[in-house]
Amino acid sequence: MKATATANANIALVKYWGKRSSDRILPQNGSISMTCDGMATKTTVEFSEQPEHTVMINDEEFKKDEKDIHGHIDRICRMAGIRKHAKVVSESNFPVAAGLASSASGFAALTVATCAAAGLKLSPRELSILTRQGSGSACRSIFGGFVEWHRGQRDDGSDSYAEEIKDKNHWPEFRMIATIVESKKKPVSSRGGMAQTVATCPYYKDWLATVDEDLKNMKEAIEERDFEKVGGIAEFNALKMHATMITTKPSIIYWIPATMEIIHAVRQMREEEIQAYFTMDAGPNVKVLCQERDVKEISMQLAELEGVANTILCKPGDGAKIVSEHLF
Ligand code: DP6
Repeated sequence: MKATATANANIALVKYWGKRSSDRILPQNGSISMTCDGMATKTTVEFSEQPEHTVMINDEEFKKDEKDIHGHIDRICRMAGIRKHAKVVSESNFPVAAGLASSASGFAALTVATCAAAGLKLSPRELSILTRQGSGSACRSIFGGFVEWHRGQRDDGSDSYAEEIKDKNHWPEFRMIATIVESKKKPVSSRGGMAQTVATCPYYKDWLATVDEDLKNMKEAIEERDFEKVGGIAEFNALKMHATMITTKPSIIYWIPATMEIIHAVRQMREEEIQAYFTMDAGPNVKVLCQERDVKEISMQLAELEGVANTILCKPGDGAKIVSEHLF
């Protein structure tokens, strides 16, 4: 009744922004991501007679927050018919507090390890549906390479799952450089931010009206390995998402001066014929999309910017998997 899994974070190239059901975590729109080798979480789960679930994340006891880890473990226990409690220890190789999609790799690794420890044998699609109920974007981290999360139509969520578009070997030269900027203020969570956007943004319907086109074009661009097309769609899609955030009430502005500094630097790089594009999620960090041949030059230019504290380099990575080495 013990198992360990690893999962990589993922970065959305077409964003998930808004829910049609918060109970089952069903999205208003489909999304596409790249699973990121270089940003991983490893989680060991053991069931025993202990009186309650215990969760340690990066050597700290997890305190209950809006992402209900305990509730997610309970969900899996109910499916497996288990009355025992779980000891969970989890470690990420990137700073969790930096707002870098930690819940995606975290919930994917947790779901895969907990199911294995509980003796629950699920298909990758079933694992994706189950992971989605912990945190939406995490359902994409079950798969490697380039991944699409289908919106689905049904109220029970049985058709809202992720699926691999292309595996990591399809485009080994693709890179994402995550910049970590200095930020004192804790941003509004993605969960709270998207709920507020759906409820109050007058342009939310306009966002939704454009996403299907982005999904179609992004799939074509990935298929063709057309970097400029992928970058262009991803950058504009992120700007459209941020436009809906900025125009909610009260307005959510994740950008800080360092965010703008990086955005302008990336646009300047393109003026100099360096193929670089940016995307951003619910936080001030900017992720720079590029190709292997330009990594050195782009990293050098990013390192010179005042607001950039650190960078993490990622390439297309594997989906979540069971590993034999436990954390305890
Ligand atoms: C901006 O998956 O963290 O990163 O489903 O409420 O757990 P919950 O939200 P979460 O939202 C991620 C939003 C995003 C875009 C994306 O990853 O697609």
